[in-house]
Amino acid sequence: MSKSSTLAPKTIAESKTTMTEMVMPNDTNPIGNLMGGNLMRWMDIVTSICAAKHAKNYVVTASVDNISFTTPIKNGEVVTLNAQITRAFNSSMEIFVEVFAQTLDGNNIRKSNQAYFTFVAVDRETMKPCPVPPVIPLSEEEQKRYEGAQRRREIRLILSGRIEPKEATEVIDYFKNV
Ligand SMILES: CC(C)(COP(=O)(O)OP(=O)(O)OC[C@H]1O[C@@H](n2cnc3c(N)ncnc32)[C@H](O)[C@@H]1OP(=O)(O)O)[C@@H](O)C(=O)NCCC(=O)NCCS
Repeated sequence: MSKSSTLAPKTIAESKTTMTEMVMPNDTNPIGNLMGGNLMRWMDIVTSICAAKHAKNYVVTASVDNISFTTPIKNGEVVTLNAQITRAFNSSMEIFVEVFAQTLDGNNIRKSNQAYFTFVAVDRETMKPCPVPPVIPLSEEEQKRYEGAQRRREIRLILSGRIEPKEATEVIDYFKNV
């Protein structure tokens, strides 16, 4: 997929997606905390819905950046996952997800995780990567994540062996200036 998108740009708000789940006994590990793999599954679902809303197409998960688990989430607690697109490239999109936990009565609200997922839109007939609309970042925060997305993309393309470190020009320039 070499052609750049000629589709009309879209705002980030248009595809924002929130998912709420309650931790049930079947979601937990033997000490009664939400199992990491189940949380990652929810993160994959909410981010894929967000990406599909932006692309208005099928999407597949291409990569997931680092996920750290900073706070245990207990059986019976409520988990809210907020996903938003940060930037679209040609066929790929970077989606940012933040995860919050709270007790059922709304107390002990805390941020549990965050991660960047990359999805690729695929054509419904050929199942090959296809163009997605560009993103219009509006707020200062959206602009910051939009700019950082190019560096994060280069890093994940190095890690997946798709580009050589010397091709990561944004990352090289960034570190020259710190
Ligand atoms: C993701 C996938 C569609 C890429 O296919 P491909 O033939 O390598 O396609 P291309 O080389 O044209 O790359 C397409 C896009 O994917 C991006 N991409 C591919 N691998 C990537 C990775 N590991 N991390 C980030 N982006 C990646 C490319 O940078 C490119 O982005 P761009 O179009 O915005 O420039 C293909 O590898 C695939 O189908 N993977 C399996 C997806 C899946 O089943 N996920 C669920 C796993 S259970």
